[in-house]
Amino acid sequence: MTTRGGPSMKWALRIPQPYIKRAIILALGFSLLSIWILAYYVSQTKQNPRWEPPQANCKLAGSKANPFFPVRPQPMRDVAKNSRTQPAALVFVESAYSKLGQEIAALLEANRLKYKTEIVSGKSFPSFTELGHGKYSLVIFENLNKYLHMDKWNRDILDRYCLEFNVGIISFVGKSEDNLLNKKVGDFPLYMHSNLRLKDCSLNPDCPLLYLTRAGETWRGNLPGEDWTIFQSNHTTYEPVAYAKTSSLEYVHMNENLDRSYHVTVMQDLGLYDGIQRVFFGNDLNFWLHRLLFLDSATYLSQGKLSLSLERFILVDIDDIFVGKVGTRMQTSDVKALVSAQSRLGSLVPGFRFNLGFSGYFYYSGDDIEDTGDDALLANAHEFWWFPHMWAHTQPHTFTNETSLREQMILNKRFAKEHGIPTDGGYAVAPHHSGVYPVHVPLYEAWRKVWGIKVTSTEEYPHLRPPRHRRGFIYKNIMVLPRQTCGLFTHTIFIDKYPGGRSRLEESIHGGELFQTFINSRVNIFMTHLSNYGNDRLALYTFESVIKFVQCWTNLQLKTVPPMELGRKYFDLYPEEVNPVWQNPCDDKRHSAIWSKYKTCDRLPRFLVIGPQKTGTTALYAFLSMHPNILSNFPSSKTFEEVQFFNGANYYRGIDWYMEFFPTPSNSSLQYLFEKSATYFDNELVPKRAHALLPRAKIVTILINPARRAYSWYQHMRAHEDAVALNHSFYKVVTATDEAPRSLRELKNRCLNPGKYAVHLEMWLNHYPASQLLILDGDQLRTDPVSTMWKTQKFLKVKPHFDYDSHLRYDPSKGFYCQVMPNGKTKCLGRSKGRHYPPMESDTEKFLSNYYLPYNVELSKLLTKLGQQLPDWLREELRGR
Ligand code: A3P
Repeated sequence: MTTRGGPSMKWALRIPQPYIKRAIILALGFSLLSIWILAYYVSQTKQNPRWEPPQANCKLAGSKANPFFPVRPQPMRDVAKNSRTQPAALVFVESAYSKLGQEIAALLEANRLKYKTEIVSGKSFPSFTELGHGKYSLVIFENLNKYLHMDKWNRDILDRYCLEFNVGIISFVGKSEDNLLNKKVGDFPLYMHSNLRLKDCSLNPDCPLLYLTRAGETWRGNLPGEDWTIFQSNHTTYEPVAYAKTSSLEYVHMNENLDRSYHVTVMQDLGLYDGIQRVFFGNDLNFWLHRLLFLDSATYLSQGKLSLSLERFILVDIDDIFVGKVGTRMQTSDVKALVSAQSRLGSLVPGFRFNLGFSGYFYYSGDDIEDTGDDALLANAHEFWWFPHMWAHTQPHTFTNETSLREQMILNKRFAKEHGIPTDGGYAVAPHHSGVYPVHVPLYEAWRKVWGIKVTSTEEYPHLRPPRHRRGFIYKNIMVLPRQTCGLFTHTIFIDKYPGGRSRLEESIHGGELFQTFINSRVNIFMTHLSNYGNDRLALYTFESVIKFVQCWTNLQLKTVPPMELGRKYFDLYPEEVNPVWQNPCDDKRHSAIWSKYKTCDRLPRFLVIGPQKTGTTALYAFLSMHPNILSNFPSSKTFEEVQFFNGANYYRGIDWYMEFFPTPSNSSLQYLFEKSATYFDNELVPKRAHALLPRAKIVTILINPARRAYSWYQHMRAHEDAVALNHSFYKVVTATDEAPRSLRELKNRCLNPGKYAVHLEMWLNHYPASQLLILDGDQLRTDPVSTMWKTQKFLKVKPHFDYDSHLRYDPSKGFYCQVMPNGKTKCLGRSKGRHYPPMESDTEKFLSNYYLPYNVELSKLLTKLGQQLPDWLREELRGR
């Protein structure tokens, strides 16, 4: 009998119960698996796997722990002897362009250690002492051979200097074309073998020079280069610093008697052989560890004169919070990872907090998952420090006025208050560094008024490159700190897409660029972006890795303090940086990109008349202004025709203020803007500042007999009813002693100092090439202004050639040349120029002639060196002397 449903049904009904159960479980398992796979892929569509930073596993090397090296006697250190040296290094380089020489200089510079380079020529040899003091506390040779094969005479001088002042020597073994085996190093009981390939470098924990560098780890892998030199000695003066294994098999076979287990690559000479301490490097600075050992050697061999602090401050800014594009932003899990990374980092770096910079306008502009990430950031707001970016991430320099900038800031502040973001950090960062440097004044004003900002940071001052030159300054009471890049930009969101690939990132962390930034700079503000913390969480990987690496290989003490405190620390460390130095924004592409399009760099002078006062500067100014293509500055309400920008408080008003004094030239190549401020000549700040802003400007100065100049100034002060000048004779003023009342000494200085011409000219020539400097004879300007103006036009290369002959005429009643007006009459300078006063008394004249003699001798030397004729007054002063 068959039942309804046919045979298959019967078959189904006949299936035993356990099979059905299993099938159901299987189907269920299969669907769960598919759901899980689906969920995994859906959630991972935007992301690669997140990388976990490596575990820190530092091997702490205990003292005397190394089985290779016996305990050595400690070197003799006579700090008292060394205290008579300047904290500077003398670097003997092979040539001005030699690679290692430049690297040594760059490393010293990065650590703000003073140095002087000298090319080893054999012909000239530098002097080492000055007035019984040593000029250097360390000597460095780029090439050991140059030290070993020095002329005997010079070598004796150097050795004696090192012994007398307890100064040590660092030298690097240069490349050798021959394979040197057991080659004796000069007269020393030291031998070297060259051209080796090495691997796996370790440090000797007993080596006395280790300070910044910490022993204990082994750097695994091949050391860069195939031309390593190793050192060997049985003498107790030699203490190995670093050692490695050879990977040149052929070499090992050739030298059966060599110990294969280690080879010394950096050797310290404790000075027990000839009294001089040295460190020999078996290769250049290409190997990252050598940079640290070099700094330690510098500290040690200079007896701490060229030492570094171990304290390092780091601040990690996360810019662009809420700004990232859909698909690149943080999700809730990323925020959790950020919080837990922060607490891990806090255990390594006391005080560590991430510093988050937000633009409220972009809140909730991701996809649904990312929007929950925005909420997670806000829910954890209390965990972080916060700082404002611009509300809609707009570049501040694009705002022409302060009011609109302020409105944007107020929106961001309102957003912060509504969402529980703290607003009292006192720190802000401008998108793309815009407005910070070059300075956009409305940004500083608005920041102060809306947010009470006290500190910001930029990587643009004075320029992005090279990073070691970045500095800070204070403007309008806002501290601007240098900022470091760490290769993490908005678009660097996957480890494998890191510029140059993953290996490049690892290299940067493990001894490379990022790691070296920690070594070289005491205050590091790192710039990262929101997108670096989502996606692959590249930034978390990078920072955790590098900090662990720093702690394994160095004794640096890393700290994080809030930005305002960091600012104060920075300027405590570098007080000399407080005052900014302005530059031409159009001389740097990145600067001109963040420079308002409503501003122009054409409103800057092409030449400066720098004085000194009372030499005829007003006459020159007036005559120059007669030229159709020479445009002077607009007068100042306080200092009349002089702007006096570079020498005083006006400088801190910035270049926008300065440029307001100049017209916009209708033809910037034909027309020449200029200004005359006679106070520039003898102010030591001015040449540096002027050169920073106007590097191509020409500089015009006028000289007359300094004694006459001093007397003219004295008469000037009397005419202005200066009580001191009225109450004291000129003789009394110029002969005033150090015991005289302050006001008298001040007048004396204003009379006498500018006349030390050679001193001031040298100062200008330290910044400007001689070809940009014109030195005019003030007597000739007075008696023959036409030829002086001819000379000046020629020097300036201004066109057309203006015929001063028909535009200047001697005015007998004035007693000077004056301008001929269209109506044929003359227009002379005012009563204060070309005053009538009695001639100088002869004893004063004699006194001043003697007083200025050494300065005049120097001036004649300088003018001769510059190929210039000596003015008559100078010839007369020097005649018969
Ligand atoms: P005295 O007033 O002592 O004679 P400055 O403009 O740099 O302050 O210099 C003033 C000096 O310029 C005057 O000093 C005067 O001697 C000199 N001078 C040169 N040419 C002149 C001119 N054409 N008219 C007026 N003074 C002139």
